[in-house]
This record gives sequence, C-alpha cells and structure tokens, in this order.
Amino acid sequence: MTMCSVKIECVLPENCRCGESPVWEEATNSLLFVDIPSKKVCRWDSLSKQVHRVTVDAPVSSVALRQSGGYVATVGTKFCALDWEDQSAIVLATIDQDKKNNRFNDGKVDPAGRYFAGTMAEETAPGVLERHQGSLYCLFPDHHVEKYFDQVDISNGLDWSLDHKIFYYIDSLSYSVDAFDYDLHTGKISNRRSVYKLEKDEQIPDGMCIDAEGKLWVACYNGGRVIRLDPETGKRLQTVKLPVDKTTSCCFGGKDYSEMYVTCARDGIGPEDLLRQPKAGGIFKITGLGVKGIPPYPFVG
Ligand code: BGC
Ligand code: BGC
Ligand code: CA
Repeated sequence: MTMCSVKIECVLPENCRCGESPVWEEATNSLLFVDIPSKKVCRWDSLSKQVHRVTVDAPVSSVALRQSGGYVATVGTKFCALDWEDQSAIVLATIDQDKKNNRFNDGKVDPAGRYFAGTMAEETAPGVLERHQGSLYCLFPDHHVEKYFDQVDISNGLDWSLDHKIFYYIDSLSYSVDAFDYDLHTGKISNRRSVYKLEKDEQIPDGMCIDAEGKLWVACYNGGRVIRLDPETGKRLQTVKLPVDKTTSCCFGGKDYSEMYVTCARDGIGPEDLLRQPKAGGIFKITGLGVKGIPPYPFVG
C-alpha cells in the first residue's frame, strides 16, 4: 500500500479579492485564474513563478482555453475572446441585456468545446444579492448562445462526467450539487436531480472539478476546504482543509494533472479574521492526494 500525505502550500500570495476559475494550461506549464472584482485575468508560470495579469473593463468571472489560440472569458455580461499578446478582449456574445445588475459567474468548456457559464445579480456584500436573477447559458462554437434555465441565485461550479453523459452543476444558495443527463451531441441537459447536499459546516458550495476516477471536488466558500464526493452514492469521500475560509474553486494541474490548485477570496473577511488567515486571496497547491485530474477542454470556435 502506498501512503500519500496531503501537503498544502500557498504558491502565490496574490491577495485576490475573489480568485476564481483556476485552469491548467499544459502548453505553458501555467495556471490561469481570474480575480473577479479586480477585473483581472492572471497567468502564473509554475516554472518561473512569474505572474502576468491582463485587466479587462468589467468583472471577469471565468477563463478557458481556446483551441485557435488565446483564451475565452466571461466579462461582465459578455462572452469574450482574449488575445493575451495585445491584451485585447473581443466580444463574442452578450447576455442578460434586460438585467442591468447581473454579471456572469463561473464558466467552463464542455468536452465538445462549448462554453457554459451562468449569471447572478451583483452582490452588495459576499453572498448578499437579489435572488433568482441568474441563468445558465452556453456559447456554441458558431458563437450563438442558448439559455438553459433561469431562476438561479449564484450560478457556480460545473463539470461533466468522464463518459460525458452527466452534467454536474452548483447553484450555490441551494446548498446542493446537482446532476443532469447530458447529450454531448446537442449540448442539451435534462432530468435535474441533487447528488449531494452540503452539511452545515461545509457552508456554501462554489467551484467544482472532476477527477480521473469520476469523483467530484467541490470548493466550500466560508468552509475553508475542498471536499471529494462520489456522485453515484451521494457520499463524501474526503475533506481537505485549507488555512483560508473563502475557498472558491479548484482544478487539477501540474505534471500529469497530479496536483490540485485552489483559489480563494479575501473580500468579506474582517481585519481580525485576516490576521488568522493572512494568505486569504492566495493560490494554493495541494499535493499527495493520490488521484489525478483530467485536462481542461478548449473552446472550439
Ligand atoms: C497586485 C496584487 C493584487 C492583485 C489583485 C496585482 O496586480 O500585484 O497585490 O492582489 O493584483 O488581483
Ligand atoms: C461568486 C462570489 C460569491 C461566492 C459565494 C462566487 O462564485 O463569484 O461573488 O460571493 O461565489 O457563493
Ligand atoms: Ca465560483
């Protein structure tokens, strides 16, 4: 039997106000992530330890790889293409035009190259917002957008099962991780059900990713942890606690996707609590989990 010891390290003390959307870019050995209210997309080179930051003109809530080069991102209420070299953002589509107080939140590309992302009302404080204002959208490779459903509070974590037949989704204020049947060919979802309800001390489910064994990892906002769930049995398999409370999202990266990267937020933590968690807003790396992840899918189009 191999013993694995879990190690947690802050690899970048970025002081993100709300770090989110970690994505591993194998081609550059880098971690991409965003700081939503700072309007920044960041790329941390794991070899040189250098960070490059591009500032956009609205809160940027997710970033993804693009097959034709550069990245795509959700900026304000727009799906955009990002050119990293000339630091420009080109609008591909705009959503929620009737909801002036909305912005995009988490987003991820599906195994067929479609970019899924949901919206929420802008918060007056973390977790404080007008409810039921959000929707889940998808940007298709031909750049048309479809709305899947509305009435969402805080559209958050999403990923797909390894056989691409299930779409997992989190609306944070439902305190539930949900599953839908997924049709990879059309991108359609159906048959929503809950696969896990968070326990009280796990707080608010935020970002999520799947591992190479088909288990889900969920970052718990205010819970200071990531949890590993078996979506088939509905059981929690593991809890990994971090030295920061507002853990927002996670992804696998590094060599063979054997490391986990976790983002977190600094906004909403009082001065006394900050003394207890000085690394709030940093980028954390977890090693020794004994399970790998899978590469992120690039947006096609
Ligand atoms: C600054 C960091 C800050 C970060 C927020 C960077 O440009 O150097 O101190 O926390 O932006 O995204
Ligand atoms: C949002 C934050 C929110 C948090 C709590 C994040 O995904 O971007 O604005 O406070 O979820 O659920
Ligand atoms: Ca999130």
